[in-house]
Amino acid sequence: MSFNPTSLLVTGGAGFIGSNFIHSFMANNPECTVTNLDCLTYAGNLKNLTALEGNRKYRFIRGDIGDAALVAGLLADQRINAVVHFAAESHVDRSITGPEIFVRTNVLGTQIMLEESRKHWQSAVVSDFRYLQISTDEVYGSLGDTGYFTEETPLAANSPYSASKAGADLLVRAYHETFGMPTLNTRCSNNYGPYHFPEKLIPLLIHNIINKKPLPVYGDGLNVRDWLHVRDHAVAIEAVLKQASPGSVYNIGGNNEWKNINIVNLVCDLLDERLGRAYGENRTLITFVKDRPGHDRRYAIDASKLKHDLGWSPAYTFEQGIAETIDWYLDNQEWVSEVTSGAYRDYYQSHYGGGAA
Ligand code: NAD
Ligand code: DAU
Repeated sequence: MSFNPTSLLVTGGAGFIGSNFIHSFMANNPECTVTNLDCLTYAGNLKNLTALEGNRKYRFIRGDIGDAALVAGLLADQRINAVVHFAAESHVDRSITGPEIFVRTNVLGTQIMLEESRKHWQSAVVSDFRYLQISTDEVYGSLGDTGYFTEETPLAANSPYSASKAGADLLVRAYHETFGMPTLNTRCSNNYGPYHFPEKLIPLLIHNIINKKPLPVYGDGLNVRDWLHVRDHAVAIEAVLKQASPGSVYNIGGNNEWKNINIVNLVCDLLDERLGRAYGENRTLITFVKDRPGHDRRYAIDASKLKHDLGWSPAYTFEQGIAETIDWYLDNQEWVSEVTSGAYRDYYQSHYGGGAA
């Protein structure tokens, strides 16, 4: 089965994964029109997409996925035949201090995206249609020392963030089961790479090391995450969109488990070398801090279904990916400083003439 996206609506395309996906997808599919709907929360950064300015196949719309009339208008006017829904509140720590926006964006926002997509699909403005929900391995909860999450693992989310993503996934399932809507659902492990907001572990480490600030390690540092380069994620999403059967769920992961403390040590050592510091100097910045409440112990993805059905496997080794990522941050210090100073939030107004973000 092969589906041909001709007019794609991406939500949350100004964020970390969404922007990397748009770059990757548009390079591979120059004939497809891409509409990026993003309301530019603190995590949305149009500087991630400057390379696409002037590209007639790309348009940015500043708007909220919770605005049903806006979503309906875009689907109809642009004759959208595929939706890839990234937009979300994505940071676990923020969901602990303020869960409400997670429910509003991730659950209610997804319901609006689904409902408007259902009406558009049923109106038969386009002959074929796909709705792809971008989700996370966190919906499965936490693993012990062994085993892997498969697509059959029951949902057992533990944080307000992951609970909101699990709620959204169940709505996606319901729209397929109830209405026969051609939905797809991917669940990926931790991503790393360019344009990652420096509240998340890897870009936070790089930023703090450069600035000789403490490196906060939660709890005992022995929690395990399974890391995948964001461009490998982007390629997997494209494969699922084009090749997967409606109603299917795919895990995405690179079989690359790391204890947090080992990642911290690795990034310290690679930056010792690049910054011309003595071996071990950056490790002195490591500071063990109070654990994250409900901190999931281990994630590990079994992505064999994706490999078997669609022939996907990651192109990056972790060694190459982490080295390139560190170099990207070193080479793009202006991007980092505009994020940390907040200057990136003025970009919409200066380039699109709209209200301040
Ligand atoms: P991000 O926080 O970097 O970006 C989220 C984007 O969504 C931002 O541009 C933001 O402005 C936009 N947004 C938020 N609320 C919106 C709304 N109401 N209307 C329109 N736009 C809105 O997130 P990310 O890390 O790129 O994650 C993208 C998706 O991938 C999320 O659904 C997340 O759950 C999922 N995911 C992330 C990871 C990861 O490691 N980061 C792994 C697996 C899955
Ligand atoms: O697994 C996929 C998920 O990965 C995505 O769904 C989320 O959107 C994404 O944010 C990410 O969630 P994590 O909570 O795993 O990522 P984070 O970078 O926040 O933390 C990674 C690990 O590092 C986690 O065990 C917590 C720990 N940590 C994090 C930070 C920010 C620290 O020890 N210190 C820190 O300062």
